[in-house]
Formats: sequence, C-alpha cells, structure tokens
Amino acid sequence: MAELNFSVLILAAGKATRFKSDHSKMLHQLAGRPLGEYALQTALAVGAERTYLVIGHEAGSVRKTFARPGLTFIEQKEQLGTGHAVMVASKKLANCPSPTLVTLVGDAPLLRSETLRELVATHVQGRAAATVLTTLVEDPHGYGRIVRSAGPRLRAIVEEKVASAAQRKIREINSGIICFSLPKLLKHLGKLSAENAQKEYLLTDLVGIFNRHREKVVAYRVGDAREVMGVNDRVELAQIERILRLRKAETLMRGGVTIVNPEATYIDADVAVGRDTVIEPGVSLLGRTRVGCACTLRPCSTLTDAVLGDRVTVRPYCLITASEIASDVVVGPFAHIRDGAVIEQDARIGSFVEVKKSRVGRGTKSMHLAYIGDATLGEKANIGAGTVTCNYDGEKKNPTIIEDGVFIGSGSMLVAPVRIGRGSYVAAGSTITEDVPPESLALGRARQVNKEGWVRERKTRQTTTAEPAPSPTSKEPV
Ligand code: UD1
Ligand code: CA
Repeated sequence: MAELNFSVLILAAGKATRFKSDHSKMLHQLAGRPLGEYALQTALAVGAERTYLVIGHEAGSVRKTFARPGLTFIEQKEQLGTGHAVMVASKKLANCPSPTLVTLVGDAPLLRSETLRELVATHVQGRAAATVLTTLVEDPHGYGRIVRSAGPRLRAIVEEKVASAAQRKIREINSGIICFSLPKLLKHLGKLSAENAQKEYLLTDLVGIFNRHREKVVAYRVGDAREVMGVNDRVELAQIERILRLRKAETLMRGGVTIVNPEATYIDADVAVGRDTVIEPGVSLLGRTRVGCACTLRPCSTLTDAVLGDRVTVRPYCLITASEIASDVVVGPFAHIRDGAVIEQDARIGSFVEVKKSRVGRGTKSMHLAYIGDATLGEKANIGAGTVTCNYDGEKKNPTIIEDGVFIGSGSMLVAPVRIGRGSYVAAGSTITEDVPPESLALGRARQVNKEGWVRERKTRQTTTAEPAPSPTSKEPV
C-alpha cells in the first residue's frame, strides 16, 4: 500500500450521559484497560502523522491517563456536539501537515487499524471530500442512518432524534469514523449549526453541507459490524467486554493454551500465557500477568500482575498479586500471595497460607494455615501448620529470617525481628523472641504438667461437699 499521509482526531470530550456516571466514559475499565485506550492505540498503531485527542469531561484525569509522546490534547470546555469538538480543534488542525484527517469516536474500541488504513486508502483513491465508514446492522437504534443518493454517493447522515419513520428503518449506519479532506473540512466546518432537534453541532451534518456544495461524499462499508460498535451505556460496555475477552482467549488458544471454558475466563489484554498451559473456569488473569508454559491454573483463582514460571500449579481459589512464582511451584488451594512475594522453584504454598513481601526459597514448604510476612526463607525449610511471623510491633514491620533446612513446628509464633539459624528446629507451639543459632532446638513454651488421678480426685470432692465443683480453669488450686 502506498504511503498514506493522514492524521487522526479522536473525539473523547463527551460526558457519557447514558453511562449515568460521575466519571468520563474514557476512563471506565474495559477488559483491563481504560475505554479510551483502544481507539488511541489503534490510531497510534496506524501510522498517523499527528494524533489529536479532544478531551473535556474530567479533562485533568483523562490527560493524565492517556498522555504519551506524539499525542496532542485539545480541550473542549463545553461539549456542544461532535461538530463543535472539531470546531474547537480547528485552530490546531489548520497547522496539521496532512491533507487527510480521520475523525474517530473515542467510544468505538473494536476498530482495527487495518480497517482504518483501508478507509483512508479508499478515500484517497476515490478523491472524495469525505468518506464515511459505515456498516449494516440488525438493530440500527441510536446510530446515525446513512441516506444514499442513486449510485455510490451519500446524501446525508440523519441522527436518530432527527430521523423520519422511514429513515429510522435504514440499516446502514454511521460508525462515527469519517475520513475528510482536511482543507475541505476546515472550509465548511463553520457552516454547522445547532438549530436541530438535538440542539448540538452535529459533525454528521457536514455530509449534507458537502452535498450542497457539490463535494463528493462516499462510504466505505466494513463487513464486521462489531468493529464499529459504540459503547454508549453499561450494557454495551458488558457486550464489548465479552467480545474483547473472547478475542483474547481465541488468540491464546491459537497460540497453544487450553482454555476449558472461554466464556467463564477473564484474561486482560496485556496478559501473556505460554503453550500447553491449561486454564480452568473462573480464572482471572489481570493486569500484566505473565504465565509460563505447561502451567495448570485450577478453577477460580485471580492473578493480578503475577509472573509464573513453567509447570506451576495453582490449585483452586488462590489470590496472587504482584508476585513471582518460579517453575514447578504448587500453590493453593486458598492461598494468598501478595505485595512482591517471590516463591522459588519447587516450593509449596498450601491452603490458607498468606505470603506477603517475602522470599520463599527453593523446595521450602508451608502447607497449611500460616502467615509469612516480611520474611526471607532459605531452601528446603518446613513451616508447620499455624506458624505466624509476627512482623508488626504496632509501629513498624520487622523482618524474619529462616535459614536453609529449618523446621518450624506447628503453631509457632516467630516474633520479628528474629533469625532462625541454618538447620535448626523450633518446637511446636513455641513463641520465639530471640535469634536461634544454627543446628539448635529452640523451645519457647510452658512445660507441660500432667496431674495423674486428677479426674478421680475431683469426683470424690464433688460427692463429699455440697459446693459446686471448681472448674479446671478456676483460680482455686486443684
Ligand atoms: C455518534 C454519531 C452517530 C454515529 C455514532 C457511532 C454524531 C452527531 N453522531 O453518535 O452518527 O452513528 O456516533 O457510534 O457524530 N464528543 C465530544 N464532544 C462533544 C460530543 C461528543 O468529544 O461535544 C465525543 C464523545 O466523547 C464520543 C464521541 O464524540 O466519544 C461520540 O459522541 P456520542 O455522544 O457518543 O455520539 P453518538 O450519539 O454515539
Ligand atoms: Ca457513541
């Protein structure tokens, strides 16, 4: 395809009335990214000379979210319609070097850059003043309808509110994506008026205006109507989310990943998964999560910004956030791994174990009911059920160090800061407040006392006195 010189203007200032939200529609999350990100990435990927983004509602946060090199923001303080948005931009557009300008609506996230390039190519070849990207839909409700003249030319775009009953039946709709000759756009833009049923400056009215000035307007019709679906309310947001998620799942499946039930699996756009990994239903892979090859992700776990090596097994119902899990590790069920935890190769993190900001060394096991926070665990250590690293003293977090080969008996409290030396044993039920030297046994609990015959003696006392029998927990000596 010959070099196409064009620029892109994305309209994203609207206040999203139909969303019934206090926030800009562009900032609402769609499959793990803000809605506006999709149109923006398409525009940037397509090789436009300049990319402009018209912002208005919540301009500050929108600007912060989308700012990047090569993007020019234009602020439309009052949102008086799509035509008005372009009018506000016209000063900057007058200095735009491209002969061609594509206006995109920021709320059509499924548009592919190939389609955008084909639109521009059709426009340039046809020497048109404007080329409208259209499509045929089953239900045209809410979209601008395409009114054609005899032949390929377009006579007008009629918005829903303005359309006659006959026009409302037209199934060819305006995608909101229009390719303009920039000089002609700038020449006729001032002719738009807000005197219509919508009381707005409608960019689509330019089609009628161009016709009156004998300028050529044609259509480029895209086959897959989904590509131009707009997100105007939260029902459409969910519909498009579903399409995007299925697309992502399909890409992964074609790349060698098994997804048992794609409809019940939630994988964000930026997630990567290696071949032969199996993902079972109810799994969410979010943010920048990376999963290696041949992993098994059992049902209902949520991984956010997690990095997994190869052959990792995540059993059901785990939460893994911003953490690294090395190859051959088994996690869960019901494990919670968070805040930069690093689990090294062959380690095991079992049920109801929480690991926070800690490193768990190779082959180390913590199988049941433990809290490991701000700790460094060496290799091949064994952490008994119910172990707690008591990392918080009410003011600050303190570190626990457990060296290679240590055995922590069940129900132990390790009061940090504390170090358990290499190869040592901590007896079950201990409260450890002092460092344990290597190769030692640490006992930190009250010595057990057995009172033989106690039950018999108690019974005897009960029958000889009228007093109620003292309970074993009473303060009276027994
Ligand atoms: C628009 C088109 C309609 C088309 C549909 C496709 C017009 C008049 N109508 O309708 O023909 O079928 O898109 O999805 O163009 N915006 C601004 N400033 C404003 C108003 C809107 O920047 O003053 C932005 C919005 O943020 C949005 C885009 O323009 O991203 C489209 O606006 P919206 O109100 O969604 O237009 P539709 O009614 O969907
Ligand atoms: Ca819209």
